[in-house]
Amino acid sequence: MATLSELTQQFQRLAAEEAGAIRGAADSAQLEEVRRGVFGKKGRLSTLMRGMGDLSAEERPLAGKAANDVKEALAAAIEERAAQIRKEELHAALEAERLDITLPGIPPRVGSLHPLTQTLREIEGIFTAMGFTIELGPDIEDDFHNFGALNFPEDHPSRDMQDTIYLDSDLLLRTHTSPVQIRAMQARKPPLAIIAPGKVYRCDTPDATHSPTFHQVEGFMVDTDIRFSDLRGVLEAFIHRIFGPDVTYRMRPHFFPFTEPSTEVDVFFARKSPTGALVREPLEILGAGMIHPKVLGNCGIDPERYTGFAFGMGVERITMIRHGINNLGLFFDNDVRFLRQFD
Ligand code: DAH
Repeated sequence: MATLSELTQQFQRLAAEEAGAIRGAADSAQLEEVRRGVFGKKGRLSTLMRGMGDLSAEERPLAGKAANDVKEALAAAIEERAAQIRKEELHAALEAERLDITLPGIPPRVGSLHPLTQTLREIEGIFTAMGFTIELGPDIEDDFHNFGALNFPEDHPSRDMQDTIYLDSDLLLRTHTSPVQIRAMQARKPPLAIIAPGKVYRCDTPDATHSPTFHQVEGFMVDTDIRFSDLRGVLEAFIHRIFGPDVTYRMRPHFFPFTEPSTEVDVFFARKSPTGALVREPLEILGAGMIHPKVLGNCGIDPERYTGFAFGMGVERITMIRHGINNLGLFFDNDVRFLRQFD
């Protein structure tokens, strides 16, 4: 049984010892352990306070006050240390998770446009800059728009089932983009300056230069005074923009049922042969001509009043020439090792 003064001394010792323990607690877990050691049900403070029951009625309030002082002092010390520890722990976390937001990022791998799309966009850009508008037509055509209105005779070889993919006796997959000329001229009156990009289809077995599906860009201009020199000027501007100003070209006479006169255009690139000599071989890039008066008439446009030119080019072919690609199949294989070269 402890006397009042013994008890008071014990409270003071408790206060001194635990104040040291609180200051020494290194982290929130240790501080919590100290707190339980003092304030817990079986903690030192509760145990001491039970000893107050043995004191007299006069002594008890005095011991109670001493107990209270110790309790408040220790609670305040714990709160103070807890705040300090929170600050230290936050600081340590910030140090450990330090992030340099000025470091360059790791760029994600992104895809790129297919080389055919890149060429197509360039072609479209060149012609729209010259005032042409872009128009699309259906992939499934009828005989009239794909052949008849374009002045193909009834027995023309390209109408053959060997060349054209027929869906029934009249419907077919368009073999060229020229039917868009017919649709545009039927729908609107001159002046017209239109390009028509799109997919075309032919009965071909795939090899290095053939594919059953490929892409063309059709172009045509119709007005009251369109001459062959206008065609030549537009094509020359196009050739120099798509292949560069140093490329030369020639217009060779040719035949198409829907143009008269007709021409094929070849470009010449200077290329070093294996022997080192400079060779310039002609590469055909498009067909063109003055729209046949019968074609204008078939679309309800008076050929006495209006004239026009037209041209058609293969997007694959132009892309192959520009990049020195020797196999058409590469465009359709979707091998990323090929495609990545055009990023
Ligand atoms: N339609 C032709 C083809 O597929 C290309 C062509 C030639 C289009 C001359 C034209 C043109 O508009 O005038 O091979």
